[in-house]
Amino acid sequence: MQETVQKLLVEGKGLLAADESTKTISNRFETLGLTSTPELNKKYREMLFTTQGIENYISGVILFDESVRQDLHKILESKGVVPGIKVDEGLESFNNTPEQITKGLETLDIRLKEYAEMGMRFAKWRGVFKITDMYPSKDFYDENLGRMAKYAKIAQENGIVPIVEPEVLLEGNHTTTRCSETLDSTLKILFEKLNSEGVDLKNLIVKTSMALPGPDSGVKALPLEVANATLRALKRSVPPEVPGVVFLSGGQTPDEATSNLNEIVKLKGDSPWVLTFSFSRALQNEAMETWTGKDENTAKAQQVFIKRLETVSKAAKGEL
Ligand code: G3H
Repeated sequence: MQETVQKLLVEGKGLLAADESTKTISNRFETLGLTSTPELNKKYREMLFTTQGIENYISGVILFDESVRQDLHKILESKGVVPGIKVDEGLESFNNTPEQITKGLETLDIRLKEYAEMGMRFAKWRGVFKITDMYPSKDFYDENLGRMAKYAKIAQENGIVPIVEPEVLLEGNHTTTRCSETLDSTLKILFEKLNSEGVDLKNLIVKTSMALPGPDSGVKALPLEVANATLRALKRSVPPEVPGVVFLSGGQTPDEATSNLNEIVKLKGDSPWVLTFSFSRALQNEAMETWTGKDENTAKAQQVFIKRLETVSKAAKGEL
């Protein structure tokens, strides 16, 4: 696991999240007038993974089960990019409240054993936390983060590096400060749970959202404010043994996510962790819109993709 962590957390490289579930990729394709099928999903992801030079900017890719069964991880392995797998099974309602809890623990051990045999070196489990006046609730924190910690323990028992992803959702009318405080509480409770499960923090990666104001607040935060609020939460709650914190883009535009990452890295000071990206939409949207399912657009889409990767990689070094 230590070797996997070292391969993933390399200066100037980050992760590509290409683990959209069947439903999510269908929604993304639908906005472009495309119908998702296993064949079309494969073609699209092949376009991304065969882009020349991605290994200069990407250390690992998070895959969805369908892609592994289509052998797409072999393209990544041939480039020295580490394949990983999303293993949560999405969301279900929590105690008849509007909160949505992550499921997938029941069959996790057996699935991880199979994935390990197929060459997956790391895994991802996502939990979502929506901010309103009433939520997240205490019971929800306990149950959702408790499940996430159990997942991390089972992953490590199978020699797979767990990425724990508590995503504080962008939606809402909250302030940047409220988001930062929610991030802080979420991560603090997560680490309590990880410690009680006996998870080895050195062989674990945290994937988190940035601290941003809700779009309904009418406020747009500057990168400096986002960076300060995000780092404040991380410094209060993420122990120094954790080797890396990677950011999701969470519905920000590619440019916003890139600028905010750049500022976070510039301001990181003596923070003990490697800080980098694990974006899905902010890396893929422009390439997907250029491709739109047509073979004749593949080369252009790959150019757009590598250009975004190059820029985000600079941001991961704070060099923009
Ligand atoms: O689970 C969410 C993905 O791993 C990150 O996606 O960058 O589009 O928020 P995003």
